[in-house]
Amino acid sequence: MSDATTDRFRPFLVKDKVRESSTITSFYFTPQDEAHWREFEAGQFLTLRIPQQNGTIVHRNYTVSSPPHSKGVYRITVKREAATSADVPPGLSSCWLHDEIEPGMEVAIDGPRGAFKLNKQSEKPVILLSGGVGLTPTVSMLHVLVHETSRPVWFIHACDGADVHALREEVDQLAHQRAGIHVHYCYRCAERGGEKCHSTGFITRQTLQNILPLDDYEVYMCGPPPFMQALYATLVGLGIKREQIFYEFFGPASLLTLSEETQPKISNDPPSEHKIADDVTKPASAAIQIHLKKSGQSLIWDEASRSLLEFLESQGIEPEFSCRAGVCSTCEQGLLNGEVEYFEEPLDEIESGRLLLCCTRPLSSITLDL
Ligand SMILES: Cc1cc2nc3c(=O)[nH]c(=O)nc-3n(C[C@H](O)[C@H](O)[C@H](O)COP(=O)(O)OP(=O)(O)OC[C@H]3O[C@@H](n4cnc5c(N)ncnc54)[C@H](O)[C@@H]3O)c2cc1C
Ligand code: FES
Repeated sequence: MSDATTDRFRPFLVKDKVRESSTITSFYFTPQDEAHWREFEAGQFLTLRIPQQNGTIVHRNYTVSSPPHSKGVYRITVKREAATSADVPPGLSSCWLHDEIEPGMEVAIDGPRGAFKLNKQSEKPVILLSGGVGLTPTVSMLHVLVHETSRPVWFIHACDGADVHALREEVDQLAHQRAGIHVHYCYRCAERGGEKCHSTGFITRQTLQNILPLDDYEVYMCGPPPFMQALYATLVGLGIKREQIFYEFFGPASLLTLSEETQPKISNDPPSEHKIADDVTKPASAAIQIHLKKSGQSLIWDEASRSLLEFLESQGIEPEFSCRAGVCSTCEQGLLNGEVEYFEEPLDEIESGRLLLCCTRPLSSITLDL
């Protein structure tokens, strides 16, 4: 990541820090300078600059969990990623936030960005489906749906138990604000407060059939990859249209290895700046070829692929990646010829002759230095 990225970061003050569960804490940020406030849409994320002890920095993304109408303040809600064993370091950013960041301190923030956004043009009933800390975009979306629409909503949340269930009171209060908002909580471990939820174990086809009347739903889901893989297949099996299932997953190093048949689509309305595609699901061309210079392979671009990264993965090629959101540059590659479009604006300027695989699609046949 070049130094140019630092120019995009603005200083924010930590206004408040609120413990939401045994592992999850919210942080409220206000800009030092009012001019630094930027509007966001429910579902979008911020990028935080995290200083490390050795003087270097890392970047991490956090979805804004507050509603867009709360002007001048962003709330993020973060799960502390503790070390899973003695020989593994704790999560850099989440532990820094939880353990060292207190009200009054300054944090450098860029964004918001992200194409996983609530479609405000639609009037279809909505299913907001989340696992663990994946409820951050769905809570922000719930605020918008409750206050700005009359769409029926099913807010379905799965987590391990009552001790790690974040933002419950807020969701319960929203559900009481108007008719047509339905809530279902599922705790994996019945012994961790099973009496406080609606079902225990995993969310199954039967659970969804019991909750959801037959209808033409739009689904927004976010959670760990196994959760999304299982539920995507279940939702499709229940007749929900693939093109109406939108998802976000929280990297790094997560991969949805879904078959082409069950490949979900990222959400609508990507950001409008620079060379951003106006419809990520639109076909580029039937005959676009992807040439890989180093391996000598020539592949036919599959218009169902969301990004070049996903296309290469579907072909058994495994380029490096981390955030899958245009932030970390891990997936940067040489573009030797041809033209691509960005459906997600990258954090950093990309040099001519280079591209980010995770947020581009080809506009013509291309040759990659891969
Ligand atoms: C678009 C987007 C939105 C997101 N929104 C949210 C959100 O709203 N809330 C949220 O909590 N998170 C969110 N995330 C995830 C977040 O960006 C971070 O990935 C997360 O907080 C973990 O980062 P970290 O620096 O704490 O952990 P990292 O340092 O990246 O480590 C991750 C895990 O790996 C373990 N680990 C580290 N080194 C090793 C090793 N050598 N071997 C084995 N294990 C190791 C750590 O102990 C930790 O558990 C989002 C991600 C994306 C892409
Ligand atoms: S994987 Fe991080 S920018 Fe592409």
